[in-house]
Amino acid sequence: MSKAGSPAWHSACFLCVQEDIGCLVMLREWALRREREQATPVGACTTPQRHSDPSVRDPMIQFESVTLAYGRGESAVQALDKTSIKIGEGDFVALVGPSGCGKSTILKLIGGLISATTGYVFVAGREIGAEDVRIGMAFQNPTLLPWLTVRQNVMLPLKIVQPFRADWTRKRKTDYRDRAEALLAQVGLSGFGDKHPWQLSGGMQQRASLCRALIHDPTLLLLDEPFGALDQFTREELWAVLQELWLTRKPTVILVTHDLRESAFLANRIVVMSARPGRVIEDETVPFERPRTIAMTYDAGFVALNQRLRSLIVEVRAGNEVSLGAAA
Ligand SMILES: Nc1ncnc2c1ncn2[C@@H]1O[C@H](COP(=O)(O)OP(=O)(O)O)[C@@H](O)[C@H]1O
Ligand SMILES: [Mg+2]
Repeated sequence: MSKAGSPAWHSACFLCVQEDIGCLVMLREWALRREREQATPVGACTTPQRHSDPSVRDPMIQFESVTLAYGRGESAVQALDKTSIKIGEGDFVALVGPSGCGKSTILKLIGGLISATTGYVFVAGREIGAEDVRIGMAFQNPTLLPWLTVRQNVMLPLKIVQPFRADWTRKRKTDYRDRAEALLAQVGLSGFGDKHPWQLSGGMQQRASLCRALIHDPTLLLLDEPFGALDQFTREELWAVLQELWLTRKPTVILVTHDLRESAFLANRIVVMSARPGRVIEDETVPFERPRTIAMTYDAGFVALNQRLRSLIVEVRAGNEVSLGAAA
């Protein structure tokens, strides 16, 4: 049976649109274990198990020496090299690094869309796929469905993800609608629920896309350059929106971004990766208090952090070895 026709895929939990190809893809339901024998490349771990590091109190995400190669043989592309990361529950981590260093690959591994070639990926203390974890995703392209209204787009995950799906018919006109309206209001889109996506600006569409990523109360929010296509002012407005959403809901967030100012404004930690094959070369705690403001991004400490990370990335882009407090 093909993977797409397997029971795991039939119970897909969340519709999203992949930015680069613009087509709909399905993330499978987290409660169901993937059919590993079919999907796992040679050498990958196939038995779900609890991580063994006693010093870690079940981080939400843990990578243990993960490597990832796309394809096999001579045409294989080594995307990740012995990558180890720990991310605690409720944390906000930014992933930065040169283009092609494996940032999106890390999100795909966490999402269970691909499996590690070697090493282990744990989510909620269990190997990926073994635990029921709700995930929300947003990409550079807002990817709203044009034939649905903004409210219908935002409510879409409730139609697909359990336990909301079971109550869909009964609740759709009341609770779920209220839920969507409350989120839309929180991101400044009150009164736009009945509009269609094409009636909204790019920034407004991205706000709606954030609402869609959050409507089913995800434990994990995976954001792949969500503000990359927006102008500077809109982007800064949305940083404040995302900060507010995180402060009120506290999901674990992993944000892939090329914008160091954005990473230092939003994240608690900035993980810097080397050029491909990517590995973690720096794991920086962001010390600035919250709520952060745009004015703070011009403070000396903030600018100094940005400059230091920028020179680090310039170094790794040039292919130079760096050894600045490298993470495990
Ligand atoms: N499906 C794929 N097949 C082959 N190579 C891929 C595939 N997806 C990504 N890659 C390659 O893997 C590397 C890492 O990709 P990606 O994680 O998308 O990088 P980033 O998000 O950091 O820009 C890149 O060199 C990319 O070309
Ligand atoms: Mg990417």
